[in-house]
Amino acid sequence: MAEEMRIVLRNYGKIDPLKIDDYLAQGGYKSLEKARAMNTADLIAEVKKSNLRGRGGAGFNCGMKWSFAAGAQADQKYVICNADEGEPGTYKDRLIMENDPHTLIEGMAICAYAIGATQGYIYLRGEYPFLVSTLNTAINQAKEKGLVKDFDIEVRSGAGAYVCGEETALIESIEGKRGEPRFKPPYPPSEGLWSKPTIVNNVETFANIPVIIEKGADWYASIGNPAYPGTKVFTLTGDINNRTFFEVPTNTTIREIVFQFGGGVPGDKKFKAVQIGGTSGAFIPDALLDTPVAFDSMSAIGATLGSGATFVIDESRDIVDVATRIAGFFEHESCGKCAPCREGTARTAELMEKINEGRGSNKDVALLEKLGTVMSYSCLCGLGQAAPAPVLTTIKHFKADYEAKFV
Ligand code: NAI
Repeated sequence: MAEEMRIVLRNYGKIDPLKIDDYLAQGGYKSLEKARAMNTADLIAEVKKSNLRGRGGAGFNCGMKWSFAAGAQADQKYVICNADEGEPGTYKDRLIMENDPHTLIEGMAICAYAIGATQGYIYLRGEYPFLVSTLNTAINQAKEKGLVKDFDIEVRSGAGAYVCGEETALIESIEGKRGEPRFKPPYPPSEGLWSKPTIVNNVETFANIPVIIEKGADWYASIGNPAYPGTKVFTLTGDINNRTFFEVPTNTTIREIVFQFGGGVPGDKKFKAVQIGGTSGAFIPDALLDTPVAFDSMSAIGATLGSGATFVIDESRDIVDVATRIAGFFEHESCGKCAPCREGTARTAELMEKINEGRGSNKDVALLEKLGTVMSYSCLCGLGQAAPAPVLTTIKHFKADYEAKFV
């Protein structure tokens, strides 16, 4: 039986998020003090050793990322928290910011010290206006108490574009430009905001940092799956009894998430598929549910862990219709900068609509497979690279549902 373990949600429901004294009473800001007493190389080595990997979805080693920015020579460096959280069904970062904003600020301040940054930004999803004052209150409290020194944090709100969750589009947006991704490399740790070394980490990633510094890298590295240690926050939506959230070690299986924590599918209907990682995630059939939710084990089954958003559908759902709606979402959200995404998302949506309306054939399915494969290799950023996953995986695992729609 899998059990919940709360690291990033450790203070959830235990503190008043608007009272810094509550956070301090739980040992808050002690890790920042401890980090400041370390030399920066040792601090970064500790984060690297914990093997904390980015919780925005890409799973890059956090300490390694910090070491690139720390090693870069520049008169100014930046720390950005990616709180854009635009993936439909994802609300894990909101939970952290809403209930424990100081853990995010402490994590960012530790990063700032480690890399030598004096300015930070929290790029907040445009649909979370209610969090602006929560975050600003927490930032001001930390300043007034003299806890966060030599580091300023500004909250910047997005304007609703999904692509601005991509780190370089986000950076362009902070710079006041249209939110479009840049070519990588150069990666932000060497050339980011205003061409200066910049760390962009997700909310959940930063929220892990104070606990890693408090309890040590070895403690953290021993939790869950060794290749992707720690915990992950999951948010459940769709045909599931418990539409809720929870935080579990990364050796928990998808089956445990859907059936133990989620309580399975409501009524007497059968489970059909689960999509993990939000709209850009793969659809996973029953046969693969015993896969652990760690990054690499998910990759091994052709899926991504992504943001941890978990969307379940039961047997009564038309999975081709669901995938068609998702294709429409990507067509709408493509920024249009690169041709493979601009054209690819539009043609995918068109072909999916054709099949969904009963005008398609095997030839269209083959075209979708070819197009999706090209997009995953050639699109400029993660949006276009990931967009074909729901279509490709529903074709792979639920081909009969497509065939049932042919004339
Ligand atoms: P990526 O693999 O290109 O980069 C991951 C991070 O590592 C970035 O911060 C990047 O700058 C850094 N990095 C990678 N290689 C580097 C190098 N050689 N030197 C220095 N830094 C390096 O992935 P990307 O495009 O940033 O993110 C894609 C992920 O985003 C997908 O896996 C997807 O699951 C996730 N995603 C999350 C969403 C959410 O709402 N949380 C929404 C949509 C996608």
